[in-house]
Amino acid sequence: MRLTRVCSVFLAFAGMATAAWLVAADPAADKAAVDRTRQTVKMLDDVYKTAVVLITEKYVHGENDFPAGSAAIALFDAIDKKGWHRVRLLDVTGDPYDSENVAKDAFEKKAVEKIKSGESFVEQVEQAGGKQFLRAMTPVPVVMAKCAICHPHYKSVAAGKAIGALSYRVPIQ
Ligand code: HEC
Repeated sequence: MRLTRVCSVFLAFAGMATAAWLVAADPAADKAAVDRTRQTVKMLDDVYKTAVVLITEKYVHGENDFPAGSAAIALFDAIDKKGWHRVRLLDVTGDPYDSENVAKDAFEKKAVEKIKSGESFVEQVEQAGGKQFLRAMTPVPVVMAKCAICHPHYKSVAAGKAIGALSYRVPIQ
């Protein structure tokens, strides 16, 4: 009787462990989670870029106005501190306004090369501290003539070409 109970407890644990392993190893479940995270990145990308364009359009009239890029970086810092996700605004022309805004780690360096060669979405799944993250990068083109008020070298970049990029690191839920 006691042996049966011990055995059934053991079997219950073994069953839970197997179920946990199956969830962790289930590529279909992982793919669905990565797909959902990619959708979240695309939504964030549209929200952030639309906000930068709106701010530039409505509030930025000259070199002394507070740039939408600086507002975006302050917003990204606040969102990161709250633990939601990380986003960085990067230069891909080789001439950043602020030398901090350049590709730093291996993913960003490789992704910037792909963005410069015309790719519109670069991604990679990253494991860190037992968690999974979706790293992603999207291009920032010169969307309006006003951008060149403060970044004069954008004038020599062909229309539609990327001058910058947004680099994301979003937890995969
Ligand atoms: C009023 C001046 C001003 C205007 C107009 C402006 N920017 Fe910027 N931009 C800045 C400043 C200043 C920074 C550095 C912000 C920081 O690091 O806090 C910056 C940073 C950036 C960066 C990050 C790389 C770097 O150069 O440091 C990108 C990309 C960028 N801006 C793109 C744009 C685009 C696209 C537009 C037009 C929609 C634009 N900017 C309009 C001043 C401006």
